Amino acid sequence: MEVAASAGGGGGAKTPDEVIAKHCNACHGSGLLGAPKIGDAAAWKERADHQGGLDGILAKAITGVNSMPPKGTCADCSDAELKGAIQKMSGLK
Ligand code: HEC
Repeated sequence: MEVAASAGGGGGAKTPDEVIAKHCNACHGSGLLGAPKIGDAAAWKERADHQGGLDGILAKAITGVNSMPPKGTCADCSDAELKGAIQKMSGLK
């Protein structure tokens, strides 16, 4: 049985996994350029603790910070989609 996997057809919300695989994993998968690694909860928590929690680091992800490009290169990601990706990478609630 064939399942219609219409990924990125436009309009539909992107799942955290899609956003991460397509945009964030390039740097956050390996810690490239000093990026906090996916699943390294302590590294993410430390950032969040210093920057007002999940919403604080979300705001930085949207504007970009140092080597972190604005929206992590996902120019058409909504704030909610970015937030979902950050939650998944960091384990933060
Ligand atoms: C080109 C590499 C690169 C890509 C692609 C990238 N990041 Fe980053 N990201 C970084 C680096 C490097 C840092 C650390 C920046 C610093 O503090 O100097 C970072 C930091 C962050 C932070 C923490 C910001 C803070 O205030 O400490 C968040 C949140 C984040 N990235 C989210 C994302 C998301 C979500 C994506 C995918 C949509 C993404 N990043 C894609 C390189 C990248």
